[in-house]
Amino acid sequence: SAGIITLDPGYKNTGSCESAITYLDGEKGILRYRGYAIEDLAEKADFLEVAYLLIFGELPNKTQLEKFHNDIKANSEVDEDVKKIVDSFPRTAHPMGVLSSLTSALTAFNPSCVDINSEEDMYQAIVKIMGKFPVLAAWTLRRRNAKPYDYGNASLGYVENMLYMMFKKPNEEYKLNPVVVEALDKLLILHADHEQNCSTSTVRIVGSSHAGLFASLSAGVSALWGPLHGGANQAVIEMLEGIKEDGGDTAKYMEKAKDKEDPFRLMGFGHRVYKNFDPRAKIIKKSADEVLGDLGVEDPVLSIAKGLEKQALEDDYFVKRKLYPNVDFYSGIIYRALGIPTEMFTVMFALGRLPGWIAQWREMRLKKEPIGRPRQVYVGENLRPFVEVEKR
Ligand code: SDX
Repeated sequence: SAGIITLDPGYKNTGSCESAITYLDGEKGILRYRGYAIEDLAEKADFLEVAYLLIFGELPNKTQLEKFHNDIKANSEVDEDVKKIVDSFPRTAHPMGVLSSLTSALTAFNPSCVDINSEEDMYQAIVKIMGKFPVLAAWTLRRRNAKPYDYGNASLGYVENMLYMMFKKPNEEYKLNPVVVEALDKLLILHADHEQNCSTSTVRIVGSSHAGLFASLSAGVSALWGPLHGGANQAVIEMLEGIKEDGGDTAKYMEKAKDKEDPFRLMGFGHRVYKNFDPRAKIIKKSADEVLGDLGVEDPVLSIAKGLEKQALEDDYFVKRKLYPNVDFYSGIIYRALGIPTEMFTVMFALGRLPGWIAQWREMRLKKEPIGRPRQVYVGENLRPFVEVEKR
């Protein structure tokens, strides 16, 4: 109906798939979760509602949403021994490496979440990881900051509690800023799913071997870590900071990005699917102005980012290659204004993408898809006779 290409139903899982979760149109800059426009969801829904929509296919009513949140809260406890694993990492360890390890370790403490044979088993595994993943993310940050680990406050909302667990100081009352909560909630919605991107395809293919939900998600965290994927949001801020330190000469970096001999790329630009604007980038750019204005934050890298965007949109190299700002280009500027440290930006992406990964894994398992086995085009040697080592 929306011009979606359907695969031959007899296809074997070659890494491509049919999915009913997210629809993208790269030319028109369209993104829909279960048929709902991202613009509507970002403005009118909250993150937990969107998580429920992605995973179960419908927007929840009040009762369903309350039950989902209560079940998540009831399953957010993480085994005390996991703290020993967190403590085993150097404080300087990259949070994505820590988070991937902790997510995989959850399997050992929740063995019932591996052999999932019923929708009830699936639901229990889902509320467990929706509850525990934000705890692991918070503990990862608190390890870096040498702060004690805790479970937050059950009276808070799902996103409020993320901030509370990350930033509450011992013996101090933590004051939630509604501007910060709303901005983070919107960012998490915008990151929640994106059809068959690198990390989601990873979750699906690992899950297709029935390796268990937590192991599949741990693999997704590792895939997202890369600077060409979710790691780009950290790389964008480091790039903008570098340009600022170098006197803010954006034209010089535009030339570097076009120089084939120079490995420098304009991080936060370009996309495999969006060959026009990334609808998420448009929303985030608007939100960046609002949040920094509301918080009274002056961030010089925001004007550098806007200058780069303006120059790229007028530059033949970028226009010809249809390179536009993507979701990662402005998100780091907001995270920074919210007080989130740069090395945690990709963890924030993972917190947003969690329900999308879960939804895609659940769809793959409910459809009883066969084990994933991407195909190749062989371009190597033809048959050759073996040569003894003495004769080589
Ligand atoms: C995400 O798939 C998803 O949906 C991902 C994501 C999601 O929600 O899951 O949207 C999240 O990962 C967004 C992308 C974040 N990554 C970055 O911002 C890193 C910088 N971007 C590039 O590395 C690149 O644009 C990719 C990886 C995003 C896309 O790569 P493609 O589709 O493989 O494009 P390509 O590398 O083949 O580039 C095509 C041309 C090349 O030039 P030519 O060889 O044709 O002369 O465009 C050039 C590239 O050199 N190019 C860039 C560029 N991106 C592409 N040149 C300068 N700067 C860039 N950023």
